[in-house]
Amino acid sequence: HIVRLEDYLPSDFLIDRVELDVRLHPTATKVTATLSMRPNPAGRSDVPLILDGDEVNLKGIALDERALEAGEFEASPQSLTISQPPQHPFKLTIETEINPTANTKLMGLYRSSGNYCTQCEAEGFRRITYFLDRPDVLAVYTTRIEADREEAPVLLGNGNPVESGIIEGTGRHYAVWHDPFPKPSYLFALVGGRLGKIAKPFTTMNGREVEIAVYVEPGKEDRAGYALDALERSMIWDERVFGREYDLDVFNIVAVSDFNMGAMENKGLNIFNDKYVLASPETATDTDYANIEAIIAHEYFHNWSGNRVTCRDWFQLCLKEGLTVFRDQEFSSDERSRPVHRIAEVKTLRSRQFLEDASPLSHPVRPNQYREINNFYTATVYEKGAEIVRMLKTIIGDADFRRGMDLYYDRCDGTAATVEDFLKAFADVTGLDLSHFARWYAQSGTPRVEVRGHYDGTTQTYRLDFKQQTPPTPGQPTKEPMVIPVVLGLVTQDGQRMEAKCERVNSRGVFLLDKTEDSITFTGVSSRPVPSVFRDFSAPVKVSLDLTNEELIVLLRHDADAFNRWQAAQTLAMRTLAARSTGVPVSEDAMASLSSAFKGFLEEAALRDPAFAALVLSLPSDADIAQEIGQDVDPDAIHHARKELRGHLGKNCFEKLADFYHSLAPAKTYSPDAASAGRRSLRNAALDLLAAADPQAGEKLASKQFETATNMTDRLAALSVLMTIPGSLRESAIASFEERYRDEPLVLDKWFSLQAAIPEDTTVERVQRLMEHPAFSMNNPNRVRSLIGSFAMLNQVQFNRKDGAGYAFLASIVLRADELNPQLASRLLTAFSSWKMMESTRRNHARIALQSIAQKPSLSRDVGDIVNRSLEES
Ligand code: ARG
Ligand code: ZN
Repeated sequence: HIVRLEDYLPSDFLIDRVELDVRLHPTATKVTATLSMRPNPAGRSDVPLILDGDEVNLKGIALDERALEAGEFEASPQSLTISQPPQHPFKLTIETEINPTANTKLMGLYRSSGNYCTQCEAEGFRRITYFLDRPDVLAVYTTRIEADREEAPVLLGNGNPVESGIIEGTGRHYAVWHDPFPKPSYLFALVGGRLGKIAKPFTTMNGREVEIAVYVEPGKEDRAGYALDALERSMIWDERVFGREYDLDVFNIVAVSDFNMGAMENKGLNIFNDKYVLASPETATDTDYANIEAIIAHEYFHNWSGNRVTCRDWFQLCLKEGLTVFRDQEFSSDERSRPVHRIAEVKTLRSRQFLEDASPLSHPVRPNQYREINNFYTATVYEKGAEIVRMLKTIIGDADFRRGMDLYYDRCDGTAATVEDFLKAFADVTGLDLSHFARWYAQSGTPRVEVRGHYDGTTQTYRLDFKQQTPPTPGQPTKEPMVIPVVLGLVTQDGQRMEAKCERVNSRGVFLLDKTEDSITFTGVSSRPVPSVFRDFSAPVKVSLDLTNEELIVLLRHDADAFNRWQAAQTLAMRTLAARSTGVPVSEDAMASLSSAFKGFLEEAALRDPAFAALVLSLPSDADIAQEIGQDVDPDAIHHARKELRGHLGKNCFEKLADFYHSLAPAKTYSPDAASAGRRSLRNAALDLLAAADPQAGEKLASKQFETATNMTDRLAALSVLMTIPGSLRESAIASFEERYRDEPLVLDKWFSLQAAIPEDTTVERVQRLMEHPAFSMNNPNRVRSLIGSFAMLNQVQFNRKDGAGYAFLASIVLRADELNPQLASRLLTAFSSWKMMESTRRNHARIALQSIAQKPSLSRDVGDIVNRSLEES
């Protein structure tokens, strides 16, 4: 069954209030839902009432307190139909029973390490009770949770706590929660369990007193402090930057160890994958800290962009996700280093979203059809969705962007909105027609923009010719031109900022490319300039620009835009890597000029901004290079070329790198702040290149660092370098890490992941062996993603083995996972998204592996959808 955007109809019935009574039990939880319903004036009349269900077990049903008889309703695990519902407001009471222990899909109500929790987005609430489980049905919820006092001393719900007590003589207790804000069912949550808590008071900008708290496994409270601090900073930031204030008396975050995604923004009760809450210097890396900060912010920001204003239907998912990613990116940029964060964002966008857009799974930011909505929580909806918001801000400017956001919240607060509502707010504050811009939501594929410069010394003019084109994608054979904001500037050959005039470029340096071809001319240009285009990555496009290596070096050294300085280094390296990976010879001269450019950069600039320097030093990944080549890819050749270039750069910059390595020695005490993290990342990038240049020396340095490290960032970086050097030191480091962290599942995940990424022929066997490790479990998504996901996504050479063993292995795991947890299985399966890019031997093996999955009779809808789209001819 395919759901289509064009078929949207409002619900025929509304639910104004929900009273839930949940009696928690490990295998037989009883739920009584009392729904205050009425026909929707905007819906159809004289139609049956059909409620959604999913594996629900109906125990009783009453309408206006009268038990319904057999002929009056029809119930299956998937739906509950009342063919003759009242034409006036009525009360429907439904009793269901569920088994949270048997729920391995981790949707609906389930148990994780003995704690009860829920995940209802997108369609999980229907696994708890029959409901109008769609985001445009908004109700006020009151939830009574009852549980054994020993088993679940903590009981949490949405909204504010109103009552709690002991049920004498039963060993049980209860808590009642009331959420005054109407919300869709996907934002419902409850938690019951044995949990430790840290909390602090927060006063909002208008004086509301709130208690903010983080709940974790007892004994892990000392690892929750960073999350609580990030939450407080997020709350302050949203008040300051967007004028958005928190609206309940409590804000609770709960960390659970089995979770399909990163986290969930349930009203007043965010539930998190514990990987994105727990951190201590000994167990978490700098990247973990940054992710925690970003995801805590993301979920908190949803309180406005997602909860107060929610989505009319799931096609509008980007309305909340793209906007909220944009908001969390802005937060991280303000809290850390803006240019460094921007580069990190673009790296993710390119490696995940550009890849998706070039694959059979390409879809618009607002898809117009789906079989399984869980398959659309994608890089395109999230990351490209955020880029659209960013482009809008670039086009209209900061002040109008803020005015538009305020208008959007004013108008849409308490409603389930659409992308059109969002854009209309900005059109109304600016008077602009945004209908052409809106094409970004509808047209899939990554636009390619070609830029060519022409200098005319006699007229002192410089012309830039732009051409845009978007390649065909599934379902969209022909493409229209997009509205592309190009932020640009000119630089003189010796690196000075050039003052030239062009009326097509506004005061903020933006030129709007909205036709297939366009040219702009600068006047008063006294010498041939170097163009710096798409500064700060002003649009999610692939750019082709005919700069010489010398001109790229000018940009790397001097451009005013940090993003383009980094981009220049990437382009320089990519040229060499792509050539060497495809057998195109690269001259000695070109290699020498590349290494002297890097060396020059290190000497001049590296210590001014270590985090930025580390990003410059981290060459495009194997997967980035594969994407650049785009067809008939040979991952072995790529891996070899990259290794060679790293060795080459390491040798040529050896002294400077060794110098950094020693001068950036770790501080006495660990601090997760961006500046300290930046120094660690440069030092570890130096170590990596030193080891590439001289494996023996590298092995020594890395072993020593591994032994003496006082924080996880440095220890793991050392272990990761050792992974590239086969031998007994590596194996003993692997063993000692295992020994040291045997009781730390989240740390062992890192250990699983590093081993799965070893680019050697024995890795498939190693991964198979690790699946037998006591810490591994197919039921825990973090474990599966760390071991199997890392193998498939990070290990280009071994996943794409020429004999097909990597593909066959993944296919077998996907089938196993599908029986337990379809969402997890379908995520793993997306590792095949680059299969059509491979050379023919690998391509054939991949097709066979995909077909072996497709043939399986009882596939979940999740996996069925991904495998079918992956195999579709386009
Ligand atoms: N709304 C959550 C977030 O981005 C993601 C939840 C998605 N869950 C799912 N099962 N599809 O913050
Ligand atoms: Zn989100």
